[in-house]
Amino acid sequence: MSADFSRRHFAKLAGLAALGAATGVGAAESETPASAGRGAPFPKDFLWGTATSSYQIEGAVNEDGRGKSIWDVFSHTPGKIEDGSTGDRANEHYHRYREDVALIKALGVRAYRFSIAWPRVFPDGTGQPNPKGLDFYNRLVDELLASGIEPYATLYHWDLPQALQDRVGGWQSSDTSKAFADYAAYVAARLTDRVKNVFTVNEVGRFVNFGYGWGIDAPGLKLPAVQLNQARHHVALAHGLAVQAIRASGRAGTRVGAAENIAACVPAIATAENIRAAEIATRELNAGFLGVVLEGRYTDGFLAYAGADAPKFTAEELKIIGAPTDFVGLNIYAPQFYVTASDRAPGFHVLPFPTSFPHMNSEWLRVGPEVIYWAPRLAAKIWNIETIYISENGTSSEDRIAADGQVYDLDRIMFLRNYLTQMQRAVAEGVPIRGYFLWSLMDNFEWIFGYGKRFGLYRVDFETQARVAKLSAAFYRDVVARNAIGV
Ligand code: NOJ
Repeated sequence: MSADFSRRHFAKLAGLAALGAATGVGAAESETPASAGRGAPFPKDFLWGTATSSYQIEGAVNEDGRGKSIWDVFSHTPGKIEDGSTGDRANEHYHRYREDVALIKALGVRAYRFSIAWPRVFPDGTGQPNPKGLDFYNRLVDELLASGIEPYATLYHWDLPQALQDRVGGWQSSDTSKAFADYAAYVAARLTDRVKNVFTVNEVGRFVNFGYGWGIDAPGLKLPAVQLNQARHHVALAHGLAVQAIRASGRAGTRVGAAENIAACVPAIATAENIRAAEIATRELNAGFLGVVLEGRYTDGFLAYAGADAPKFTAEELKIIGAPTDFVGLNIYAPQFYVTASDRAPGFHVLPFPTSFPHMNSEWLRVGPEVIYWAPRLAAKIWNIETIYISENGTSSEDRIAADGQVYDLDRIMFLRNYLTQMQRAVAEGVPIRGYFLWSLMDNFEWIFGYGKRFGLYRVDFETQARVAKLSAAFYRDVVARNAIGV
């Protein structure tokens, strides 16, 4: 754009504004009450938060006795990460956590969801704990509490100790499930005096399929269906054993649940038949993890579909897996399946996506705000859930720095405004969503995309480590402060 064009463009805009004032538009605006343009409020105790995970932000991968994780090894394998980067340094959060807690506080949120790196606490996966590793989380939790922010800890956000992958094949073995329970017990005994809410595993639907099925996430394996289903079963078992371990070793009253990227089904047109179809689809397409955790059994449809590839399990294991939890975390981004009713089994029909369906700056992130209404509503009905947290929601954006040094991430604000409006609709109708964790606090290592996809409310310069609030941070701060969405 030439300077001349910009000047003319500006003159035109200025002219339009003058016209608006002359016709009284400006005057009308100044008379609008402060509450105008506000959506209906959320319940008074609605929990606003933000989220991150250990490998994506901590860095300091060789400090204080931390062991290697499968993501260290994977990101250092040439060709695996789009921009050739690793999490070696990431956001240096391990050293800058105080500054980062201040950023959380500046948003005005009441809660922060972070994850604990298992290989910091048990460098070898099992055996000797590394107290220095846990100390970091002690410091972080104390800092959060001193800042009036409630810590929500996730025990597993994909950084499995490499030692377990090497020794027993990671999630291919139920030894890993047992090791996870020991790690959960150790952490619970030391943190639950201050951490009242614990997520067990994050996004089983992604890390099992991507890591053990398609080979595109760590540890990069392409296992046949029978082994993949078994690995997922071991993760479900790990969740169940961890729930037991936390109840046994943690403070009474510690609340626990999983955080899952539910396969999100939306009725293409909300007729009674299609809503019923979306309900059937939600149950069947989540049977491999959420379903077995919330029902204590695999559905007949899941077992019939898997046939000879079905996981091997015992009744005792199902009992452990299905032990009651205190909440369900749902990570909600894109609508995954638009469905209509079908007379034929399994009772729903999945529609193909048109290539013109809009998406955000991450191609997988299709824009369908209604997903954050339907997925919790259907899940709550199917599994009779009393407490749901949206454990993640957010988007990447180009996030270019403007000439004035600011980041005007209007697409992120558009995305959030629309998703939050749909979430408000769900809450108003009685869907039991009690809190929302925006992903993410700050730009970070976005797994296979490296640092190329920015999800943060704060922009991070990965050279200087400077953090700058984007416009969306102001948007979110306003939502939180008013407990309502500007529409
Ligand atoms: C879900 C994952 O839990 C998180 O680690 C990731 O960065 C976001 N989705 C965005 O892709």
